[in-house]
Amino acid sequence: MERELMWVDKYEPKSIDELLLPDEYEKAGFRKLLKSIVETVKGGGPQLHLFFYGPPGCGKTTTARVIAREILGEYVDTDFHEFNASSEARGIDTIRTEIPEVCAQVPMSGKLHIILLDEYDSSSQASQKALRATMNKYQSEVMFILTANYPEKIEAAISKSRVLAIPFLPLSSQKIYERLTYIATEEKARLSDEAIRHIAEECGGDVRRAITQLQTYAMLAESGTEFTTELLDILKGASAIDPYAIIDRCLEYAQSTQITKIEEELVSAIANNVNPRAVITGAIRRVVKEYDIGTASAYELTKLGAEAIGRLNSGTDPYIELLAVFALITKQLHNGKTKRRGVENILEDIADITEERVETKQASSTPSIPNVNDLLKSLKPIGN
Ligand SMILES: Nc1ncnc2c1ncn2[C@@H]1O[C@H](COP(=O)(O)OP(=O)(O)OP(=O)(O)O)[C@@H](O)[C@H]1O
Ligand SMILES: [Mg+2]
Repeated sequence: MERELMWVDKYEPKSIDELLLPDEYEKAGFRKLLKSIVETVKGGGPQLHLFFYGPPGCGKTTTARVIAREILGEYVDTDFHEFNASSEARGIDTIRTEIPEVCAQVPMSGKLHIILLDEYDSSSQASQKALRATMNKYQSEVMFILTANYPEKIEAAISKSRVLAIPFLPLSSQKIYERLTYIATEEKARLSDEAIRHIAEECGGDVRRAITQLQTYAMLAESGTEFTTELLDILKGASAIDPYAIIDRCLEYAQSTQITKIEEELVSAIANNVNPRAVITGAIRRVVKEYDIGTASAYELTKLGAEAIGRLNSGTDPYIELLAVFALITKQLHNGKTKRRGVENILEDIADITEERVETKQASSTPSIPNVNDLLKSLKPIGN
């Protein structure tokens, strides 16, 4: 087994054809969209700028690199420039000085530079203002690609009007499982199908996390660990903290209006990799079942929860979404009349109605899959 190279790097896709895509994206013709972006730019058409946003490890940076490689070919080493906004200590200087310097040079290919501003959501307002000016100045010679986990942190003047914005979604566990199986076979890893499936299911759609874990497990298997069902069950518990314990504590804080405590609890839950969707759904079920908040409030809460889950799917900040839900719960539990019910009084019917609503809402609030024509329609010339 190869030990010196990280598998996430070794198995990073090198072409559009190698990228894993969610099924809906595949069906909607997303791969073709990526290819036509490459063709348009190569053909010297109107300059395109791209903005990829979504959760970690689903291929934003990889797709940006693949597109640059396909457009620039042999010139990728000289004419493609990556800047990581989050690790960029000089921050604003990079945007004000370094990037304009790159833009002003004649590209080796004689055609264009491609600049990747990775994780651009961690950039300051001043940096975004400076970027806007640079984008305006070099709009026809330079292609900009921005990536972010939290699109709302980038001003609309950049993220909406200057670029083609493309949401990235977490990959399904089946897609990830197939990829892991391929890598495990290539690497002759001594891992059972069950262990690989476990990794694919526990990674939350994050391919980077899945491949890294696969390599760790494979190394441990080499040195004698046997990933039995029992051991995998233990590891399953370790891979995410229990959402129910968090819900318990947050509901207590909500009853006593201790918002600061809720904030602390949520910060630590997110740092420990809790599944925010499980916390939202679980908390709403508990409140609707156990407290007399009334049908109107139950509906209001469920609606917010469903919307929050929809937004999470498009990559928003889990802290904000969770806090919004618990803020509403705090308000509802504290309107003076809300009492905790005895288990015997639980009105299952309300819960059932609400659950149905959660499900229907959840389905309809999943971000719509970008239709190729709509995406192309949203293309606007830079500077508008
Ligand atoms: N769609 C994908 N198809 C194939 N491999 C992928 C995909 N997404 C991620 N990977 C694997 O995971 C690694 C990390 O992916 P990448 O850096 O593109 O994620 P990202 O979306 O930019 O995440 P972050 O938000 O953390 O920057 C890649 O090197 C690759 O090995
Ligand atoms: Mg990235």
